[in-house]
Amino acid sequence: MKTTISLSAPADVLTESLVAVVLDHAEPVQNGQPQKDKKPLLKVATADAAVQSVTADLLASGELTGKPFETNLLHKPAGLKAKRLLLISGGPARKFSAYELRRIAGTAVRTLKSRGIRSFGFVAPPLKLELDPPSPVGLVSEIATRAIVEGAHVGNFDPDYYRSDRKDQKIDELTVVTGGDQVALEKAAAEAQIIGESQNFTRDLVNEPSNRMTPTILADRARKMCADVGLKCEVYGADKIKELKMGAFWSVAQGSDEPPALIVMTYEPAGAPAKPVLGLVGKGITFDTGGISIKPADGMEKMKYDMAGGATMIGAMRAIALLKPNVKVIGIVCATENMPSGHAQKPGDVQIAMSGKSIEIINTDAEGRLVLADGLYYARQLGCTHLVDAATLTGAVVVALGYSNAGVFANDDAMYERFHAANVKEGEKMWRMPLDDEYKEQIRSSIADIMNTGGRWGGAITAAMFLKEFAEETPWIHLDIAGTAWMEEQKPWIAKGPSGIALRSLVEFVKSFAQ
Ligand code: BES
Ligand code: MN
Ligand code: ZN
Repeated sequence: MKTTISLSAPADVLTESLVAVVLDHAEPVQNGQPQKDKKPLLKVATADAAVQSVTADLLASGELTGKPFETNLLHKPAGLKAKRLLLISGGPARKFSAYELRRIAGTAVRTLKSRGIRSFGFVAPPLKLELDPPSPVGLVSEIATRAIVEGAHVGNFDPDYYRSDRKDQKIDELTVVTGGDQVALEKAAAEAQIIGESQNFTRDLVNEPSNRMTPTILADRARKMCADVGLKCEVYGADKIKELKMGAFWSVAQGSDEPPALIVMTYEPAGAPAKPVLGLVGKGITFDTGGISIKPADGMEKMKYDMAGGATMIGAMRAIALLKPNVKVIGIVCATENMPSGHAQKPGDVQIAMSGKSIEIINTDAEGRLVLADGLYYARQLGCTHLVDAATLTGAVVVALGYSNAGVFANDDAMYERFHAANVKEGEKMWRMPLDDEYKEQIRSSIADIMNTGGRWGGAITAAMFLKEFAEETPWIHLDIAGTAWMEEQKPWIAKGPSGIALRSLVEFVKSFAQ
């Protein structure tokens, strides 16, 4: 999507469609009294007199609810150069922030592209941001621009590649209509575009079924991406995995006829300080049957997205290479299938991880923590001083948090605070979960150092406790994205399918080390 900035008045922008946000200014509480049956008080979020005048009757008609994502399309709007004016409700004005704006931008894209429209102009609304101290207007319009461009990219992705009637409707051109410093706004838009394209790159990888996204293919895609953006990329196979004594990773890989891949992407900008070195480690299970502890047939097809954590790290490395923050980053993806076969590992087997820790395998379906154990330890061997992993690790995190929040675990409060700030800035919902020592009891083994499952209760936590044994003292964050990496249904702003969750926060988190 080509993205440009226009400092013209909205009425003067010549485009297929202009998009403006409608906000509800009704006060739910007045003089301390909750207002029952309050009517919405709708205003279009721009100072442009022509846009206000052409929408005035509709907004005052009482026909609209003002609920988020309500849309109205006007043709030949009087006084505007645009051919159409699309109004999208953003909900209550007092709550409207970059988070809502991203979703409105995604909704604009999905609404217009389904009508065959390929270009539009989005009128940036003023943002209420709870910044302390309040930010100057210029900064607010940069934040709005970023949100619009990122959200528009999210909306522009469709997963229906393999339908022969695929319409492949896309928006080709977005103009952000705003005010402020042109150079700063163009920089904001260009950076947001890199992030949006990288998020969609990740979604492309996650969307592929397992027969078209084997570990070898995933590694090839990573290699090609790295060549395109100037990253170093190494791909290792079974021999190297065994040579490195990655007994936990190999224990999963040994059951599959597809060769595993250990993908290492290195970003080392000239002049970056020796430390920190950030390690981004992703779970890359290209299909999770469960192995000998095989999963039920119902819903097993979804396990093609069990490489979403790995794909997130590959996409994040792409964005980092293009945004060029002054900090070293290493991306590691442990890619393999988890299959049952005559050479698959079995419950009761004992495996020795790269770190030397012995693991009693209770359930071969708890394979993600096994590959990540060696991935995290290897990252530390390569010199990483800070670690983040992302993984579709447990069904239990979906029980705990549902589909709206990813689980975050951290062994270091400062690291958590830094990551949380990135979540807020990038509009990704994540919720911190505990990692108290008590939970370790649940993964104690009678014959080895540790077991790979911790029983029924607190399953997302015991999985994270397992990983913590391999991060040890290195500041580390674990993201369990099992409930958030795949949209179970479409939303106004995003298609059903891969979400690309966590990439934006990861990139923002990495950037925070470069300042
Ligand atoms: N890949 C699954 C987790 C998962 C579940 C991802 C649902 C996405 C949606 C993981 O490898 C797994 O099978 N976890 C088991 C662990 C159990 C055996 C301790 C689970 O959650 O049931
Ligand atoms: Mn599994
Ligand atoms: Zn899995």
